[in-house]
Amino acid sequence: MNPLNHVAIIMDGNGRWGLKYKKSRNAGHKAGLISVEKIIKESIKRNIKFLTLYAFSTENWKRPKKEINYLFNLLENFLAKKLNKLNNQNIKLNILGTKNFSKKLNFLLKTAEKKTLNNTGLQINLALNYGSKTEIIDAFKKINKNKKKITEKNLITYLHTKDMPDPELLIRTGNTKRLSNFLLWQLAYAEIFFVKKLWPDFNEADYLKVIKEFQSIKRNFGNI
Ligand code: IPE
Ligand code: IPE
Ligand code: MG
Repeated sequence: MNPLNHVAIIMDGNGRWGLKYKKSRNAGHKAGLISVEKIIKESIKRNIKFLTLYAFSTENWKRPKKEINYLFNLLENFLAKKLNKLNNQNIKLNILGTKNFSKKLNFLLKTAEKKTLNNTGLQINLALNYGSKTEIIDAFKKINKNKKKITEKNLITYLHTKDMPDPELLIRTGNTKRLSNFLLWQLAYAEIFFVKKLWPDFNEADYLKVIKEFQSIKRNFGNI
């Protein structure tokens, strides 16, 4: 059985779900939060150490202001309401990406990271204003600034994912087969599952099905 320490998920399809069932994209974002909670719970149950969730890309700023505001409001409310619960579940919250949001949200995110810093259970990496190309370029700049040699070992110490293993498994829901600037370096050897279901329809059983299939794959890493 393949070890599974780190699962990364591109939670796609909220907008389409919302339009289909509630005539509003934003309703889909709200419904997507329920899936987030389900998958967190199941990840803990399966003893997964790291769960990286793509919540907002550097490219998502192109969306209408109204949708962006709604998304960040949703996140603010989620944190305000659920941070204690996450903390009680021994979850460590970590943000991937650059925190350049409203003062209030920046503060909430920093507080959440600080509060859960010493927790030893599931680490949730929330990718927010995250873009892999920027991350890699910034890492090279830091190598340069610190006069380090360009090696794989040095580079990874400057990625947002330093101190964690690469994801063994990537899941993208929403019936779209692309990476959308997510963890381009870290996913070099990940097993990739594109799921047809839209994110708000994705549940524990779907997640387990993917995990089971993942476990049966022969992972070669170039070997035979
Ligand atoms: C993913 O769902 C969530 C975010 C990008 C915040 P989308 O909003 O991209 O949903 P679709 O792809 O338009 O259905
Ligand atoms: C990727 O989804 C980003 C998140 C899920 C947060 P998008 O829906 O933004 O990706 P594209 O634009 O369709 O590639
Ligand atoms: Mg999308």
